[in-house]
Amino acid sequence: MENIERYKRKYAFGEDYGTSEYKFGPVAEKPDVIENRGFIIDKKSIMFKLIGIDKEIIVGPEVAMYLGSREDISRYLIYPMKDGLVDVDDATAWKIIYEITKYGLLKYMPRNDSNFKGFYVTAALSAIAPKYMFKKIFDIHRKIDEEFGVVKAVTIIPQPLAVAIAQKSVTCIVVESGHGNTQITPISRYPIRRAIVSLNRGGAEANAITAEILKDCGYGDLVREEKLVRMVKESIGLVPRDLDKAIKIAKDNIKRFRAVFKVPGTTTVIDLGENSWMRFLIGEIAFNPEHEIFESYYRRGMPRPKDTVLGDETLPGTIDIAQAIIKSAEKTPLELQPYLYRKIILSGGNFAWRVPAEFKDVAVSSEEKVKYMLELKGIKDSVVELTKDPQFSVWKGCIVWSMFVPDDYEWSWDELEGWYKWR
Ligand SMILES: Nc1ncnc2c1ncn2[C@@H]1O[C@H](COP(=O)(O)OP(=O)(O)OP(=O)(O)O)[C@@H](O)[C@H]1O
Ligand SMILES: [Mg+2]
Repeated sequence: MENIERYKRKYAFGEDYGTSEYKFGPVAEKPDVIENRGFIIDKKSIMFKLIGIDKEIIVGPEVAMYLGSREDISRYLIYPMKDGLVDVDDATAWKIIYEITKYGLLKYMPRNDSNFKGFYVTAALSAIAPKYMFKKIFDIHRKIDEEFGVVKAVTIIPQPLAVAIAQKSVTCIVVESGHGNTQITPISRYPIRRAIVSLNRGGAEANAITAEILKDCGYGDLVREEKLVRMVKESIGLVPRDLDKAIKIAKDNIKRFRAVFKVPGTTTVIDLGENSWMRFLIGEIAFNPEHEIFESYYRRGMPRPKDTVLGDETLPGTIDIAQAIIKSAEKTPLELQPYLYRKIILSGGNFAWRVPAEFKDVAVSSEEKVKYMLELKGIKDSVVELTKDPQFSVWKGCIVWSMFVPDDYEWSWDELEGWYKWR
């Protein structure tokens, strides 16, 4: 018994299925990361036949080499998840998830290690993932194991719970904001399901406004490359404490706030010039896409986040983050609420905004922004913290969970806990 637990700690493996990135790997400081996408090989292509490619789907860093090969990239380059979810009958998307999972497990499968009998895998999915996603993920691991002997057991946990585990916190509200979705989850030992608010938005919306700004500033030809837009966003985007004040100060001090971005490895320079105050819109939208300033962008065609449901209520997709946190907390017992407000944990890449020292008077970190917004709504004594390495907290929680759940605890569809095994 002692031995199997030791084995499990050694061969723990974490997997975080994100809308933009798949984070994976065995016990380490940080996970490995690849984009959650696949390039579909066109079987009819003579060129691919000629060079002897017999794969159906390419995943991982190799994808980059295929991008130039088609004009109509969007037909062949597929991101299988939308807002953290995959449709049950989207066969192509599930094939990509299978390939990505296989890529990750095989990359770290120990070679020449006779002790290795497969990883103990903890996979993290969105807190609102339906049961068919659990089943599919189990099937995928089972199939990969049958082919390669690389998985001994697998379990699945909700992403926000993984964050709480990584932070060693049992009573808290986790706000996990990635690329495609933002999950607000009160936790009291286990996620309180009826109080989960899952917003259909994340870093993708900040990319969208960045693209609009680039178009308005004369860089329309650059916005087709999503990766470039993302780089610009992360480099020049700022989160204002108060948007209206920040815009005023920036307009009065154009030189100081001037946003310039040099595209690495090229001669292209992006310069927002007089419009540099717009860099504050990029950070604001991550927290309050309902600000009236965004209306004109929605009217011009920037997608408005889809509405979301909380019990029998419909919340607008643009609801500001503080209001959404309050809505969620208010679905929990009154007695619990003050404890929840005293431990609000932010994680996910969409909270990783930089705060350059020279802008400290107007730009703030995500914790400060959320605390300030809660204060405006009457929640005075909240304690908000940002996890270290916010993009990786879910994965860290997965590793801890793999080590912690005892080997003999079997998967239960009622509890949604335990190890799923087939051998
Ligand atoms: N320093 C930064 N400033 C602003 N945004 C950032 C920063 N670093 C990462 N991001 C954004 O975070 C997002 C990716 O975060 P994360 O990896 O948590 O998402 P994901 O897990 O792929 O998606 P999801 O959890 O929504 O399914 C991207 O939109 C990225 O641009
Ligand atoms: Mg994520």
